[in-house]
Amino acid sequence: MTDSTNTNPAIENYLLEERSFEPSDQFKQNAIIKDAAIYETADKDYLKFWEQQANQLHWFKPFDKVLEWNLPFAKWFLGGTLNASYNCLDRHVNNGLKDKIAYYFEGEPGDKRSMTYGELLDEVEKFATVLVSLGVKKGDTVAIYMPMILELPVAMLACARLGAAHSVVFGGFSASALSDRINDAESKVVVTADGGFRRGVVVPLKDNVDEAIKSSPVVESVVVVKRVGDKHPVTMLENRDYFYHDLMSQVTERIGAVEVDSENLLFLLYTSGTTAKPKGIMHTTGGYLTQVAFTHKAVFDLHADSDIYWCAADIGWVTGHSYIVYGPLANGATGVIYEGTPDFPDKDRWWSIIEEYKVTILYAAPTAIRTFMKWGIEYLKKHDLSSLRLLGSVGEPINPEAWMWYRENVGLNKCPVVDTWWQTETGSIMISPLPGITKTKPGSATFPLPAIGAEVVDDTGKKVTLGGGYLTLTRPWPSMLRGIYKDPERYQQTYWSRFDQRYFAGDGAKVDEEGYLWLLGRVDDVMNVSGHRVSTTEVESALVDHSAVAEAAVVGANDATTGQAIIAFVTLKSTESASPEKGEELRAHVAEKIGPIAKPKVIIFTEDLPKTRSGKIMRRLLRDVAEGRNLGDTTTLADPKVVEEIKQKAALNTSED
Ligand code: WT7
Repeated sequence: MTDSTNTNPAIENYLLEERSFEPSDQFKQNAIIKDAAIYETADKDYLKFWEQQANQLHWFKPFDKVLEWNLPFAKWFLGGTLNASYNCLDRHVNNGLKDKIAYYFEGEPGDKRSMTYGELLDEVEKFATVLVSLGVKKGDTVAIYMPMILELPVAMLACARLGAAHSVVFGGFSASALSDRINDAESKVVVTADGGFRRGVVVPLKDNVDEAIKSSPVVESVVVVKRVGDKHPVTMLENRDYFYHDLMSQVTERIGAVEVDSENLLFLLYTSGTTAKPKGIMHTTGGYLTQVAFTHKAVFDLHADSDIYWCAADIGWVTGHSYIVYGPLANGATGVIYEGTPDFPDKDRWWSIIEEYKVTILYAAPTAIRTFMKWGIEYLKKHDLSSLRLLGSVGEPINPEAWMWYRENVGLNKCPVVDTWWQTETGSIMISPLPGITKTKPGSATFPLPAIGAEVVDDTGKKVTLGGGYLTLTRPWPSMLRGIYKDPERYQQTYWSRFDQRYFAGDGAKVDEEGYLWLLGRVDDVMNVSGHRVSTTEVESALVDHSAVAEAAVVGANDATTGQAIIAFVTLKSTESASPEKGEELRAHVAEKIGPIAKPKVIIFTEDLPKTRSGKIMRRLLRDVAEGRNLGDTTTLADPKVVEEIKQKAALNTSED
């Protein structure tokens, strides 16, 4: 390509996709939603549609108004009171589902455990009591930094039970990233574990918490779940650190679900934006729960009495919040939680889990699918995958090859594949097929769900009916973010200022002749690495934070496995010299500041960075360099020589990789 637009040539190819797949007759007949009229009904009166969905929940006091919309600020189900943990637990236990399995847990080392709805409720009631004894009350925010073990949903639901918000920080984040999030949310209590298992190695979570607290004086107490025990002993500070099991064994009282307002803060979840400071995305109770429950049932065609559902994401991201914890539990589903990586002890771990638990619904990220493609189908062939009946994809654009491979080899050609587009901010799935209705096309998320308004617009905000542009949302939706914690200005600015009356998602998209939507990836300075959102600016500031670095520019380059890979162009201070060791040191520094997911794959040392005459770093051009594309016109550059130099360095570096 001579012209370097944002679109990636690999993606351009999928717009020529002509294959399509109708749901089988059998699937259609048994589907929860089989009548396409739902789109029209919902469209005619979307408030009524959501009112009906909200009424599937248990309300202590019914709401008297569906929506109050002062763009960009929304309130849903006003006047109503409810409790998320009551909806996820007590309601089912009271309805005879006490002994139904809520979760099967599989630890990475191979330990197994399960928890019924009755047991989960018991544990949550007790832990809510523990939190109260540590001074947590309605309106507080509790930080949770844990591995994928059952105590993680327990801790979240215990917060919800009290009307306190949780702020889950992904266990892969560093101490410094954790500290920033604790400070922003002012969390006085941190719930963690001594460690977690990842690829056979202990991730020292409690050590990271200790480190984080050095710069988070707000923390008063730390609750530590023993997960790894002797494999990694931890130091406990008296009157600050308590073992979960000790506190739980002292509990005699049980805390009932506190009645909270529909708009009570349910959780904060930090996500990367285009600046170095992560945004605390706010989600509230009634609207969020309404939409996650509806979408979980509709998109995955959940038959709660027979399905075994497995979302192979981490609860530390929004996918886990909505589709491991709140959606499935609100629907009384049986789910699987797996702690570790797909290649431990061998590359067939996922397939063995599916066989063992007879998983019927699998929800995974394209990056995992592409990794499995690379590993080869012999790992799948060792296991019986015939229990599967539906496959979902989330987190990044799925290329048609990966989609087809998923359908053929995992789904054995009989499972509908639903590619689901949404974001931390949207709270729930927004664009996706309905598996009993929609004709799917490999690589397309197809259409907005019923009651959702999604449109592609051009630069001027005009609707595009055929071709490419920016993805926008045209109406409020119940699980929409209520704002950015402590920063209403940034909320308005980031999402509601680019286009009049529209939510700007930050994604590029195309519409085809049949109205299908094809998501093209981010159009802002946000990268998507293995389905994880990483900000270029955040990585740049981590690099510049290192004493040897004068300047840094970071771009996401296409990568066959991870979607995008982080490439950093670094100018060192004149007293420093470039070397492979220096590169390693910088990568380690980024891991320490943010977390291993943000480590640049390649660091290119350069004397200078290409800048426009007004001094702006030309990231687009660097991306082209990183991807080895033809550079087109560079005459707006201050010093075109810089590009030449960078090109040569990049060529050297890529060949080494
Ligand atoms: C960004 C949101 C949604 C939960 C996981 C990520 C990208 C997400 C898709 C998809 C193409 C997708 C977008 C979006 N994305 N799903 N099906 N097709 N792109 O949540 O970290 O908030 O990231 O992920 O670029 O803006 P997140």
